[in-house]
Amino acid sequence: MIPAPRDPGTYRVALVCLGNICRSPMAHVVLESRLDDAGLGDLVEVTSSGTGGWHVGNPMDPRAAATLTRAGYDATRHRARQYEAAWVDRNDLVLAMDHDNLDNLIALGGVSPRVMLFRDFDPVEPGGDVPDPYYGGDAGFEEVLSMVERTSDNLVAALSALKALGG
Ligand code: 4NP
Repeated sequence: MIPAPRDPGTYRVALVCLGNICRSPMAHVVLESRLDDAGLGDLVEVTSSGTGGWHVGNPMDPRAAATLTRAGYDATRHRARQYEAAWVDRNDLVLAMDHDNLDNLIALGGVSPRVMLFRDFDPVEPGGDVPDPYYGGDAGFEEVLSMVERTSDNLVAALSALKALGG
C-alpha cells in the first residue's frame, strides 16, 4: 500500500542510499523519466540523498552515469546530498535502497509508515535489497538499473492510481 499524500495534488518521494552517488541517483533519474512519460512529472517531486556525507556536492559515480547514459537517460544533473532526519516529515514516501539504509533511516527518524524499502514496489521480488554496486564491477550497475526500472514502473502505476493525484 502506498501512503496518501499530505497535500492533495502533489506527492514527494525521497530515495535514500548510503553515498548518494550510485543507487539512489540511478533510481532518481529513472523514476523522474518514468513519471514524465506517465504525465505525472509536475505532480510528483523526487529527491535523492545518502545517509553518509562523504560525497556531498559530487556528481554520481562515473559507472552509474555510464550505465544510465547507455540506456538513454540524462545522468548529468545529479549532485550528491546527505539525508536529514527532518525530511521524513516533508516527504510522503521515504524509500531506502537496502535494509541497512532502512535501519539508518529508522535510527534517525523512528518507524513511520512512510519509510519503506524501494523494492517493496518491485513487482518481481518485493522486499529485497538493491545491492550496493560501489565495490564491484559494471555488471552490478546493470543489475541495479534493471531492478530500478521495473520497480519505478510499478511505483508509477501505484502513484497514478492515487485519487489525490487524479487517478
Ligand atoms: P551508494 O553506493 O550508496 O549506492 O551511493 C556507495 C557509494 C559510496 C560509498 C558506499 C556506497 N562509500 O563508502 O563511499
